[in-house]
Amino acid sequence: MVRDNYSYLSHLECPKCERIYHSTEVQQVCFCGSPLLARYDLENLSKDWNPASLKDREKNLWRYHELLPVQQPQHIVCLGEGMTPLLRMPSLGMDMSIPKLYMKDESLMPSGSYKARGAAVGISKAKELGIQRFVIPSNGNAGATWSLYAARGGLNSSVVMPAQAPPITRDECIAAGAELLLIKGIISDAGRIVADKVKREGIYDTSALKEPYRIEGKKTMGFEIIEQMNFEVPDVILYPTGTGTGLIGIHKALQELQEIDWISGPLPRLVAVQSEGCAPIVKAWENQQTESMFWEQSSTEAFGIHVPKTIGDFLVLDAIYQTGGVAISVTEDEILKEQERVTRMEGSFLCPEGAAAFAAARVLRSNGWIEEEEKVVVLNTGSGLKYPRIPSNEEMLLNPEKVLTSYTIKEQAPSIIKG
Ligand SMILES: Cc1ncc(COP(=O)(O)O)c(C=O)c1O
Repeated sequence: MVRDNYSYLSHLECPKCERIYHSTEVQQVCFCGSPLLARYDLENLSKDWNPASLKDREKNLWRYHELLPVQQPQHIVCLGEGMTPLLRMPSLGMDMSIPKLYMKDESLMPSGSYKARGAAVGISKAKELGIQRFVIPSNGNAGATWSLYAARGGLNSSVVMPAQAPPITRDECIAAGAELLLIKGIISDAGRIVADKVKREGIYDTSALKEPYRIEGKKTMGFEIIEQMNFEVPDVILYPTGTGTGLIGIHKALQELQEIDWISGPLPRLVAVQSEGCAPIVKAWENQQTESMFWEQSSTEAFGIHVPKTIGDFLVLDAIYQTGGVAISVTEDEILKEQERVTRMEGSFLCPEGAAAFAAARVLRSNGWIEEEEKVVVLNTGSGLKYPRIPSNEEMLLNPEKVLTSYTIKEQAPSIIKG
């Protein structure tokens, strides 16, 4: 094992069959088909590192470089990602009867979503490993963000994206110089095209959980929540779940912090939130299964969580079972109403995925699963600005009674000041 003190990365491991892989070589998934997870020398790290050392570090996610996979800082591709605000939500919290309600607000990230975390770390590590070109299937945000980071890092990107994805994310890909393939279909169809392209062209596959490092970037959401709460652990964390990489990452971060003794006591109960139109993890959890089934005829306006099946499903379900969490789905109507409520009450124009997670907190509080005194963190994974046409707006524009067709300004005679 070669290691310097910048990163304590030691190897990659399959969480299913426990096979070990070198992290100094390019890896994708395990022979058994499972995602691979990065492992660190936590024993030595716990002796060498302590929370006080974070005090003077830059306010971005690279402040946790010991627990990130990039071994040499010159390979880092950074757009200032990380250390997003953890905001108290007093009005919404009162409305939901959760006084200690917080929002981890990822809308302030480069390109407006938490995807910047995975892209920054994934692309930096790809650069370190000498990769020049990659392909990614995306529901919009990931493709946009990976294209932008690729531009900054000097890599070539190809993105395969459903044509219905938010148009602005296409513009970002094109502006960044990516090869963009728009397809008729959903993310699973995009995934099939990516697999074919990888086979034919031999390029690096950066599909979620098919390379080991995107999750390492996403886990920094977990580090930041804990640091921003002064190393106290919240009771519940809710996460809008598509591939589940974010939730698995947060769970991994919490376990690593536990192992190096930075936190103690029970971990937060992790909640995977999905839409009723696409809820494979919820169905599996309700049946107490360890893997999910492909969700047929899926649909939701919350594009980021439109994922009918993920190869990391067993890890998402494990995170929920191990922490005593739940998986819950909300309706499209609940998502839109919550998006409006959060915006009106707290001034944050959040994305529908984030709104789904707030809607789930509301349901879980009203059925008593969340107790009034508990500290609850909801992940808003992106900005509503990336989804410019929310249906209630359209309804207003299409309703002639609500549209002003003419407006007459009454002229007032100017008052004359006598000299
Ligand atoms: C805004 C937003 N929220 C949530 C998700 C789902 O995250 P994950 O795939 O990590 O479960 C996505 C994924 O595209 C997204 O773009």
